[in-house]
This record gives sequence, structure tokens and C-alpha cells, in this order.
Amino acid sequence: MSAPNKSFDPVEPAALAASTLEAARVDALSAIAGARDLAELKEVRLAHAGDRSPLALANREIGALPPAAKAEAGKRVGEARNAVRVALEERSVVLEAERDALMLAAETVDVTLPWDRSPIGARHPLTTIQERIQDVFVALGWEVAEGPEVEAEWFNFDALNIPPDHPAREMTDTFFVTSPDSGLVLRTHTSPVQVRTMLTRKPPIYVICPGRTFRTDELDATHSPVFGQVEGLVIDRGITMAHLKGTLDHFAASIFGEGIATRLRPSYFPFTEPSAEMDFQCFVCRGESIGNPDKACRTCGSEGWIEWGGCGLVNPRVLIACGIDPDEYSGFAFGMGLERTLMLRHGVSDMHDLVEGDIRFTLPFGTEV
Ligand code: PHE
Repeated sequence: MSAPNKSFDPVEPAALAASTLEAARVDALSAIAGARDLAELKEVRLAHAGDRSPLALANREIGALPPAAKAEAGKRVGEARNAVRVALEERSVVLEAERDALMLAAETVDVTLPWDRSPIGARHPLTTIQERIQDVFVALGWEVAEGPEVEAEWFNFDALNIPPDHPAREMTDTFFVTSPDSGLVLRTHTSPVQVRTMLTRKPPIYVICPGRTFRTDELDATHSPVFGQVEGLVIDRGITMAHLKGTLDHFAASIFGEGIATRLRPSYFPFTEPSAEMDFQCFVCRGESIGNPDKACRTCGSEGWIEWGGCGLVNPRVLIACGIDPDEYSGFAFGMGLERTLMLRHGVSDMHDLVEGDIRFTLPFGTEV
């Protein structure tokens, strides 16, 4: 008699022994529980549920069992493999969630960080207001005229009827180039452009002359040694103060708001006759603060009017110096500070802000053209 065929005994193949299967299952489950991330879990899956894993090997042994033993062995192996599969699935759900949470944390966008890494900057508001003023007059058909910043004394003073003993010529007001007798100055106002214009153009003349001017002032809240002016000049037949007043009213309304008018106060300039200081109506209180303490106005100091510049009819002596016949032509001129105009229009209280070039001051004015 031959010995019993041991290979048909379901308990005989070591891989199918209940204790072996249990050990493989426990091993697998603890490895699964110990996997710290999806990469480790992948290795665990290969080792404990892959083709060469102990449970897969055991599964293969079942085929060799007698039919009667197959069912029970199959059930045991199946249960063990199922437990491993379920554990793998559950662990993978947990690890995927962990990975997603880590990724979300790592890729979080801080919406409070500065948003613009290449800011577009801004134009200087002095440039903008100069262009705005030019536009007002170009729209009336005027031309823009320019002149040099280093100017001959004759254009800056003599031709404008400013005699040699005039205080404006003294070193205290004027920057002289190289020496006081060089005959050259940094222009102290834009009025020499009037002279240059009259010498080079034939009337009728309608020009606006914006530009940089220089005086020996210390930089403080309201003064700067380098500042801008804008000059207007009209030469035509029959020009009167009425034309000047109408033009200034239109100018004030265009810059400070609809309906803002100007008023003229008698004054003196060597190059105009008659001459006037010019105020514009306060655009904040529109005059309502005058004599009305309840409606005090900080912008105009409850004066109702704000000083803007000088003006007048061109002095016939200036016309003659420029070769224009005062019997045929007359004209008006006006001039005001660009900084002052800008500061009043935008409530800028310190000149330093205009000259320091701090982008934080300039930016809110934007890139308006
Ligand atoms: N040029 C004068 C100034 O600088 C202003 C002005 C211009 C006055 C034109 C009258 C006419 O103060």
C-alpha cells in the first residue's frame, strides 16, 4: 500500500496552513497600517497583494488540492486576501486625503501678497496739469510756444520793460549764468517767451507758453527754486480787458470746475498796462464762506477767492520793443504758477511732495494722458 497522498491533504501545503495564512494576513495588515504615504503603500501592495505575495502563492496552491478540500482552503485564502484588499483600499483613501491636504496647504495662494510685481508707474501730475492747460487753449485754437530756460537778460528783463535797476534783477532773485555780467540768466518767468513769440510771429498771435522757471528761493512748503509757469499771450486788433477776463473765466472753469469765475485786482507789472492780480472763485465754498462763520472754508480761508496769477494788457513799450505797432495792435498776457495751480486743484499742501519724486505721491494721479 502506498502511503497516503500527502499533497491532497488540505492542511498539508505549508502555504495553506491556517496559521501561515493568518500570519500572512497579520503581516499584510500591519504593513498596510504602517505605510506612511502612497509610495510606501504601493510597495506594500506589491509585497502583500502582488503576484508573488504569500497570499497569492497560497492561492495558487489551491489548484492542487482534491476537490473536497478546495472549498475550505479557497474560503480561507479568499477571506485573507479580501481582508488585505479592503485594508489596502481604506488605507489608500486615507493616504490620498492626506496627500491632497498637504498639497492644498503647500499650494495655498496668499491673496494678501502684493499683487503687482511690475507696477506701471505714473506720470508726474505737473506734466499732466501742464498738458491739461495746454489742451484748454489748443481747443480755443491757440498754439503752444516754447523758449530756452537759459535766457538772455534782454529777453527776460529789458524787452519786458524791466529796467536795469529793477529789484527782480538783483542777485537775490535771479540765477545768473557764470557771472552777473554774462548777460545770461536762468529765466525768472515765462514772459520772455512772449517777446520771442512777438519777434518771430506776425499778429494775430494766440499762444500759451508753459515752461520751467527759476528763482533763488529756498525750497519750503510753498516755494521752490525751480518751478513751472504758464503764460498766455494774445496780440490782435482791438483786444481789451474784456477779452482777457473772458479768457481767464473760461480757463478757471476748465481747470477748477464749471461756473468758477475770476476777478481782477489792480496791480503793477512793468510789461502790462493796466496790470492786475487775478483770483479765481473758491471751488470748494464758491464764496459761501465769506462772512459766514458757520460755513468756514479752509481752502480759501473764508475769503471766497484764491490768488492765481498776474495779468494785464501788454504794455505798448513791450510791443514797440518787439516791433509791433501799438496803434494797430493791442494784446493781453497772463501768467501763473503750475505748482500752485496743481496744489490748489488737488489739495496738495507741501511743495516738497512735488519735487521729491516719491512714487507714493505720484501713483494716485495715475497715468492720465
Ligand atoms: N511774469 C509774471 C510773473 O512771473 C506774471 C505775469 C505774466 C504777469 C503775464 C502779467 C502778465 O510774476
